[in-house]
Amino acid sequence: MNPEEKIKRLRKRKAEAQLGGGQKRIDAQHQKGKLTARERLQLLLDEDSFEEVDMLVRHRSTEFGLEKQRYFGDGVVTGYGTIDGRPVFVFSQDFTVLGGSLSEAHGQKICKIMDLAMKVGAPVIGLNDSGGARIQEGVASLGAYAEIFLRNTLASGVIPQISLILGPCAGGAVYSPAITDFIIMVKKTSYMFVTGPNVVKTVTHEDVSFEELGGAMTHASKSGVAHLAAENEADAIMNARRLLSYIPQNNMEDPPILDTGDDPDRADEALNTIVPDNPNKPYDMKDIFTHVFDKGAFFEIHPDYAQNIVVGFSRLNGRSVGIVANQPAYLAGVLDIDSSIKASRFVRFCDAFNIPIITFVDVPGFLPGTDQEWRGIIKNGAKLLYAYCDATVPKITVIVRKAYGGAYDVMSSKHIRGDINYAWPSAEIAVMGPKGAVEIIFRKEIKTAGNPEEALKKLEAEYREHLANPYIVADRGYVDDVIEPSQTRPKLIRALEMVKNKVDHNPKKKHGNIPL
Ligand code: HXC
Repeated sequence: MNPEEKIKRLRKRKAEAQLGGGQKRIDAQHQKGKLTARERLQLLLDEDSFEEVDMLVRHRSTEFGLEKQRYFGDGVVTGYGTIDGRPVFVFSQDFTVLGGSLSEAHGQKICKIMDLAMKVGAPVIGLNDSGGARIQEGVASLGAYAEIFLRNTLASGVIPQISLILGPCAGGAVYSPAITDFIIMVKKTSYMFVTGPNVVKTVTHEDVSFEELGGAMTHASKSGVAHLAAENEADAIMNARRLLSYIPQNNMEDPPILDTGDDPDRADEALNTIVPDNPNKPYDMKDIFTHVFDKGAFFEIHPDYAQNIVVGFSRLNGRSVGIVANQPAYLAGVLDIDSSIKASRFVRFCDAFNIPIITFVDVPGFLPGTDQEWRGIIKNGAKLLYAYCDATVPKITVIVRKAYGGAYDVMSSKHIRGDINYAWPSAEIAVMGPKGAVEIIFRKEIKTAGNPEEALKKLEAEYREHLANPYIVADRGYVDDVIEPSQTRPKLIRALEMVKNKVDHNPKKKHGNIPL
């Protein structure tokens, strides 16, 4: 074979690899409203930046006639490229090849790029679209999955891992995305479940559709498994790109700083009147963000799940921050099981990746009741407490209105290593809310009063005046200052600048035992 022929042979193989399972299957993929593995990578990565690895890998299985279906790449496109100029590693499952099913060779390809990502210290983004374990390969496929799970776990907290679910993801296959940091699904074309509707019907006699059982909105709003539900694949991919812009490459780096062009000294008078006079009147916490953070920088995570707490990324003078905030517009901002789990996972992520946490507090307490108690609000609420206590990143807190009881302690209070804690004049900080408190301490007086209702109101007003304000905690130094709301942005930016080189350590240990 002369050199020209050799090049021709290489090109032929690569051209074949580009086609995956062939044009017919590519057309079928498009008809389902889905992009191909390679089209997705083109959208995800900076133009012309993709370098493919293992394009010529094929499986070596001969079971069930597989020897006749040896496609180059074996159902997954892997490699590296850049997003906004920063290196990332990617794998993109190709449904046109044996349904994107995971064989031993397919799994080895994914493991190879994960190992490289760990050595280099760069994020891994997985684009999942697969029928699961390659049935013909049996246990070899199960072993390959387990190798990926192990790497997901070892990489957790070292490099960011993002999973996009762009088709089926079923059986044990769901557990790789579940160990990663963020899951982004696509409405109507992606689903995740441990067992599909047919098995569900047999076991529990429930009739349920794919979408209802494990579609994007199910996981984004009910189970909390998905962090975002995108409108379409392009939207999902753009969300992954945006997400990375707030996150460092690995746990040894700081997040990138972007010039947002927003004035760091911008005071905003509108904030002075944003909290209603009536302490029981709701308002939208996210309105505060638009006045405080860099313009257009807020990127909400889990927007459809446990909406009584808001989490997301934003920027202050270009610096990336994680926000955790009670949401009085939903269930009065109460802390319950789902909101505690949602926020604790977010706090853990920020702490692992050196992203300062800004906490806005307006919380009436933990949600009472048998449902919450029996499902474990104690251990689940403790997750959030543990996450905040354990976090050594800069922590800055603003008490906007209510901070009652245990929830005051939990929400990044001074006592659990809040670095700078501010309160607005509207803050009410006490052991419990005025009504509950006076009903306990003045039970006899209220009962024996001529007009118990009037007496309760009067005592409540007195309690609010004397105890439910920011000055008792300011008196003790539990907040560093009571600030005019209009000054919140410049104050936060200065605090963030001051605390940016903070060093804090936890005692040496193998690992703690977060209440799971
Ligand atoms: C081998 C598979 C496959 C698989 C699909 N294919 N899944 N081949 N192993 N797991 C093949 C099909 O035979 C078909 O080949 C092609 O991929 C496209 O599949 P279709 O069924 O035509 O596509 P569609 O109608 O879109 O349905 C997609 C699907 C369905 C819902 C994913 O294929 C399906 O139910 N697959 C099986 C899912 C499953 O039970 N997997 C094992 C789960 S257990 P041809 O040649 O006809 O085009 C598991 C354990 C993991 O994953 C454990 C980890 C610990």
